[in-house]
Amino acid sequence: MKEVTPISGFSKLSKEAKMEWLIQNFTGEPETALSMLKGYWHHQPEVQKLHDEFIENTISNYYLPFGVAPNFLINNELYAVPLAIEESSVVAAAAKAANFWLERGGFKAEVLGMTKVGHVHFLWNNDAATAVDLIQLFEVNKQRFFDATDDITKNMRQRGGGILALDLVDKTDAEPDYYQIEVKFDTRDSMGANFINSCLEAIAKEWKSIVSEAQNMGDVTVVMSILSNFTPECLVRASVSCKIDDINEGSGIGNQEFADKFVRAIRIASVEPYRAVTHNKGIMNGIDSVIIATGNDFRATEACAHAFAAKDGRYTSLTHAEIRGDEFHFWLELPLSIGTVGGITSLHPMVKFAHELLGNPSAEELMKIIAVAGLAQNFSAVRSLITSGIQKGHMKMHLLNILNQLEATEEEKKIIVDYFKDKVVSYSATVEAFSKVRGGALSLKSNS
Ligand code: MEV
Repeated sequence: MKEVTPISGFSKLSKEAKMEWLIQNFTGEPETALSMLKGYWHHQPEVQKLHDEFIENTISNYYLPFGVAPNFLINNELYAVPLAIEESSVVAAAAKAANFWLERGGFKAEVLGMTKVGHVHFLWNNDAATAVDLIQLFEVNKQRFFDATDDITKNMRQRGGGILALDLVDKTDAEPDYYQIEVKFDTRDSMGANFINSCLEAIAKEWKSIVSEAQNMGDVTVVMSILSNFTPECLVRASVSCKIDDINEGSGIGNQEFADKFVRAIRIASVEPYRAVTHNKGIMNGIDSVIIATGNDFRATEACAHAFAAKDGRYTSLTHAEIRGDEFHFWLELPLSIGTVGGITSLHPMVKFAHELLGNPSAEELMKIIAVAGLAQNFSAVRSLITSGIQKGHMKMHLLNILNQLEATEEEKKIIVDYFKDKVVSYSATVEAFSKVRGGALSLKSNS
């Protein structure tokens, strides 16, 4: 590491000056680094400017592959689902599950709720009054909160959303003097984070006035006003089912054995948190890929999903499976707070394309598609795990990454991919095959 002195006013430097400072201070080959950074700039300056302005201190772009899994039949509509992800096997797994269920009636999905929530967290303690008095004061003045947020909620109300409910909650059992105003929202097609936070800040201000104007109630100290990314009432369910006789999944294992083993694998994820975390990570492979492709907030989605998985006090599986008579049932329930308007949805060209690909869905429709992507991903993962094992498919997809690392030529890649068609891929086996090809001991079957 070079000796570097801290810089002040970095954000005010031009993009060129920022890059210059970085490459001179932190890279071994400044010219190479500069050309790499510039190589990732968009060729249309106006598009690059859009990206520059998404965040502060943008110096280049960070590419993720944007893939598509076609043939997703969801509630009898056919979708090609966009997925932005770096992990080699995710899109292939999604596409495989889509094709599998296409032949078995497709996926069903329904939204169970669209309610979002936020809180004004405040402190109150007053010898002259009780919590009951405080709640009463809150209840008789409720209309004032609607009036105070009237301007902010106007457009949202026109679209059918707005504030659904306000409650004062006594949390003093958990923390001395701690109360909250819990506010429920319907934000229609937007994720609504800015809308919710603006409402909450206006509500907090109004509440302070209400309390200080009242006799003998003292004052409240507002600690913070913020939405919650835990949205258990903004819930979607995706499911598949088929006759056990129709599972016929082609790996040589019998239908009943497959169904039994599958259900057992899900039960293990339900009772064993070590497995549940990996299991849910696989679900999030599908969820996050669509979330990112459609310009939604994957950090909020992740935080919420894992809190939901632990809502009953123990971390458990987000998916469930059951055999009912001669039928196999598999489903996912998950809170998803997403938007199809606002944020970068109308700005990022690839995000706009992703929405177009999905028929410019409403938030409810997109929730269903995202949940289905999670269920499909989990189906493919568990299906591989209980039959061939995960590495066969995973390493096959990873093969090109290894070959690119080894700097194999296109011709060498062709020979080696062909060689591994009927073999299990591993890093060492790939290196060995690569050495043979370089040494001339291995060539294309058709050439040999
Ligand atoms: C890998 O990204 C995801 C899996 O580990 C998920 C699972 O184990 O269910 C394959």
